[in-house]
Amino acid sequence: MTTRPDYPHLLSPGRIGPLELRNRIVMAPMGSFMGGEDGHITERHKRFYVERARGGVGLVTTEVVAVDYPRGAAMIHQLGLSDDRFVPGLRDLTDRVHAEGALISVQLQHAGKVSTKDLADGRPLSVPSAGVQAMEGVMEDLTPEETSAIVRHYTKVDPGNMLRELDEPEIRRIIGTFADAAERARRAGFDAVEVHAGHGYLVNEFLSRHTNKRTDDWGGPFENRARLLCEILREIRHQVGDDFGVWCRLDGEEKDVPDGITREDAIATACLAEAAGADAIHVSRYGGGSGIGFAAMIVHEAGELLPYAEAVKRAVDVPVIAVGRILPELAEEALARGRCDFVAMGRQLLADPELPAKLARGRRQDVRPCIHCYTCVGQIFVNEVVKCAVNPACAREHEFAIEPAKQSRHVLVVGGGPAGMEAARVAALRGHRVTLVEKQKHLGGTAFFSQLVYEPNGELVRWLEGQLRVLGVELRLGTEATPALVQASGAEAVVVATGARRELPDVPGADGPNVFSGDALRELLAGGGEAARKLSLAQRVMVRAGQTLLGIGDDPARVRELSKRWMPIGRRVAIVGGGLVGLELAEFMVERQRHVTVIEEGACFAPQMAIPRRWRTLHILREHGAELLLETRVVAFTERGVEVGAVDDSECLVEADTILLAAGVVPDHGLAEALGSSAAEVHVIGDADRVGYIEGAVLAGAQLARVL
Ligand SMILES: Cc1cc2nc3c(=O)[nH]c(=O)nc-3n(C[C@H](O)[C@H](O)[C@H](O)COP(=O)(O)O)c2cc1C
Repeated sequence: MTTRPDYPHLLSPGRIGPLELRNRIVMAPMGSFMGGEDGHITERHKRFYVERARGGVGLVTTEVVAVDYPRGAAMIHQLGLSDDRFVPGLRDLTDRVHAEGALISVQLQHAGKVSTKDLADGRPLSVPSAGVQAMEGVMEDLTPEETSAIVRHYTKVDPGNMLRELDEPEIRRIIGTFADAAERARRAGFDAVEVHAGHGYLVNEFLSRHTNKRTDDWGGPFENRARLLCEILREIRHQVGDDFGVWCRLDGEEKDVPDGITREDAIATACLAEAAGADAIHVSRYGGGSGIGFAAMIVHEAGELLPYAEAVKRAVDVPVIAVGRILPELAEEALARGRCDFVAMGRQLLADPELPAKLARGRRQDVRPCIHCYTCVGQIFVNEVVKCAVNPACAREHEFAIEPAKQSRHVLVVGGGPAGMEAARVAALRGHRVTLVEKQKHLGGTAFFSQLVYEPNGELVRWLEGQLRVLGVELRLGTEATPALVQASGAEAVVVATGARRELPDVPGADGPNVFSGDALRELLAGGGEAARKLSLAQRVMVRAGQTLLGIGDDPARVRELSKRWMPIGRRVAIVGGGLVGLELAEFMVERQRHVTVIEEGACFAPQMAIPRRWRTLHILREHGAELLLETRVVAFTERGVEVGAVDDSECLVEADTILLAAGVVPDHGLAEALGSSAAEVHVIGDADRVGYIEGAVLAGAQLARVL
């Protein structure tokens, strides 16, 4: 008897032009910065794609590949397709992807005003109109290290001679490079090409009034602006014939871009692209040049871009590919309701390449969740290889294979935060007998509490916990690990993952009634504790009622919801510490109508946050009128708020009813030192060793457990 799969639409085969895909899941194009020297593909890079093909996607789309390489490349380490010398490496890639049952298309691109390789090599940027702003908005809110990581490559460019308006012969030549690249792609064994006509790259720059100010046949009326795209599609079709997939990726809108592409423009472009021979339309979005514009493209809200795909689908007859944080349930529903024909998934496949295979096996709960922290794409900004905060094996597939242990041992993990749980998970997968001891009654450590302010962290905690249970890890919750307990366990290896300590600042008033440390907030959540003494009687009654009568203390999702209506925090909140924790907390508070001031001693906010997430969070805070103070030190806490001092030694008062401390996190070596030489083999990982937040914790757990 065959059972109906849980995702009948998502897992059913589908057709794009001449291609028959085994399911409706497309791997979204994702720049990885893994191209080797001179645009060649590397073994590491191939494994990255092969892993995702093996995981079951119907179609792999490569990242942007430069048709006119090295000209027009958006990244210094980008793949090229401008010459036959690139064909053999790519042929090996396509053969290996095909061997896993997936099809593969290549995304063809000329990056126009964001051709960072041109800048790096000292060439001017090719643009439709010389008036455009190059590299708009990408230098805001960066740390000095990030700024230097970005600009050190571009020192060869003369700022006065940075842009080159394309003339007719150049435009014709570039159309030819797209068509030639497509023909090479075909020879290299690809099944299709996707012309990148979005995201601020050259074709988009022609489509958009914002960047196309031309008065010749390539500018002005809509048909003229779409001419470059249509001629590219026609020329490609001419070169490759009908039995090869050809389509394009468009922006459904340019959000917050003056004179940018509207939804109507996008629909009309899609129709023209269809008429020019496109087998499908892939609908994304682009945003204003400032930092937040990035989140218009790599979205935070699930399904945020589906309405654009739906609108295009109503206008064209060819299949439409939707994208933008589309998780399986949403994908299934969108396909069932005919809102799109295929879904592209990006970050979720970095977090778990096996998503399609797991769905097909009926194991949705095993899919490792993406926490949308932008760590992946933040790498590209600073010219580093892509990585994933929750999946250390991403782009390191060659290093991170999980091999069975030579000898099974008893491993005791102390601390059930992400570091301890990941170590326990991988150790168990390798065949060790694993016991995990956690002081709290629940797993997750700091991430358990941080899900209150950043909900996706909770998904990771729940996933890790689920995996530990499936793997039969012995979980001893509500148990404090003492040296005696460790000794008595008889474990052959001990992993100390007890997290960090939070220190109170050494300034007057730090123990004041309106000052809450990170630990105090945790206590309030977990049951009141000492911190509850600082609350008024009415507040105490509310907190206790919530915890004892409603039992919400252990349910961050409910606390999160209820806190929108009430929480024991005053109207004016000062947050001391503008790092990752402080900004997450600030976002949570402004969303609950608190007036927030963030006080940060350093010169930049949240260097631990990936750049696009930092941009997004700061944008939200600014929109809500939060005051963001840099290079400001705390002088004292008083009943009226926080006395602060600026670099010029001037002092003032930040008025606040409640002061939250989000700084002073230091590694906690306590248990490791107490264990001394008593245990056979002791390893310290995660924040207990070095404060590294979720990404550092998961990586440390994964690395250690692979060698236990
Ligand atoms: C690391 C990274 C690199 C990306 N590079 C590209 C790219 O090369 N070409 C492109 O069209 N989109 C690129 N994108 C956008 C994705 O294709 C996709 O549209 C976006 O991530 C939203 O989908 P998701 O929510 O499933 O990740 C990139 C996204 C990420 C996260």
